[in-house]
Amino acid sequence: MRMPEGPQRKIPALTAMRAPPYLQPRELLAQNETVPVRILGIESSCDETAAAVVADGREILSTVVASQIDVHRKYGGVVPELASREHLRQIVPVVREALSQAGMQLQDVDAIGVTQGPGLVGALLVGITYGKTLAEALKKPLVPVNHLEGHVHAVFLEAHKSGRAPKLPAVCLIVSGGHTVLYEVKLDGRHGTFNYRKLGQTRDDAAGEAYDKVAKLLGLGYPGGPILDRLAAAANSVPAPVKFGPTKTRGNPLDFSFSGLKTAVLYHVREHPEYAAEIQSREEALARGERKYEQLLLLCSPQTLALVREFQNAVVRDLVDRTMAAAEDLSAESVLVSGGVAANSQLRSTFEDRGRAKGVEVFFPSRALSTDNAAMIAAAAYFRFRAGQFGDTSLNADPSVKLA
Ligand code: KG4
Ligand code: ZN
Repeated sequence: MRMPEGPQRKIPALTAMRAPPYLQPRELLAQNETVPVRILGIESSCDETAAAVVADGREILSTVVASQIDVHRKYGGVVPELASREHLRQIVPVVREALSQAGMQLQDVDAIGVTQGPGLVGALLVGITYGKTLAEALKKPLVPVNHLEGHVHAVFLEAHKSGRAPKLPAVCLIVSGGHTVLYEVKLDGRHGTFNYRKLGQTRDDAAGEAYDKVAKLLGLGYPGGPILDRLAAAANSVPAPVKFGPTKTRGNPLDFSFSGLKTAVLYHVREHPEYAAEIQSREEALARGERKYEQLLLLCSPQTLALVREFQNAVVRDLVDRTMAAAEDLSAESVLVSGGVAANSQLRSTFEDRGRAKGVEVFFPSRALSTDNAAMIAAAAYFRFRAGQFGDTSLNADPSVKLA
């Protein structure tokens, strides 16, 4: 190809001399906001292998999630070695499927966003290694993403679909099996990236972890959140076998704590031998593969249902009270709730009621975008991409990377 002659030629040639050659096009592309950008997101921080293509950080062209729940179920929680092995098995077909659903080839992707952390190191490494390899082979920019920032963007992705964007500053609660953390979210600069300030976090178990542990001790299988959510709703007005008071945390009033509640459920069950037979019958049902809500409901006494309801009331009250207190303190314009536990029906309705009463809009992702997925990673990557925050072949997993 012939290059243009004369002065026109000098500017790109000089730029190319100053920047490493592979840096130049991605920086130019990032700055040109008139060109649409399609980012392939890759997520492998825990027990979901996920890939998605998102256009301009807002429009989901495809999203594919391969869950490993069936692999980890019999251990009652995520087994890190098995998670890494499963990611290795799934990553290639999952990325292929995401591209095919978006009607794209690998070459059509403009950049690759990959979860850098926090998460399980072996699991993260699978996604990172694959993402780096793709970026190198295709000569496309690589954008490292903080998994928690992904959860924040899940809310914006959903809001975009419904045509109403959350106003900032916002208070964001990220509540999942691995995290329970409260941030203040503000707009930071002109690329649409956010600025975060951590307001509080759990001192021990994450809320989802408490759900999973309580479900396990009650013989209700794994993961605990979805089944306890439904059983709590079935308890109706059965009298409470035990009451759990509000959790007190010394120091920061916006910190959470769930291990005391989990232990209180454990002690209550131990002190009441009448629970033992039904727990055993549910464990036997689970061993036969009977883990559906309708099957387990038949094996739950009214007392167990009421116990589950009281546990959920305590978790929801704690999450909503502290988040709404933070929103009030900071005069936040909106409240964002994301992460696996954000799928909880009672949490959603309680937040909505409290938000309405306080005049604060509350935003959730759909259930599919609440739990781990790669659309949220591709969306978060887009704004980092615009800000020119790229990774290179030295990118490594950071299991405890902080958002703020
Ligand atoms: O975000 P996620 O998919 O993975 C992590 O990053 O942890 O969240 C999974 C967690 C599990 O602990 C699961 O029990 C919980 O979210 N979960 C729920 C519900 N659905 C999932 N907890 C309460 N109610 C639900 N409906
Ligand atoms: Zn997550």
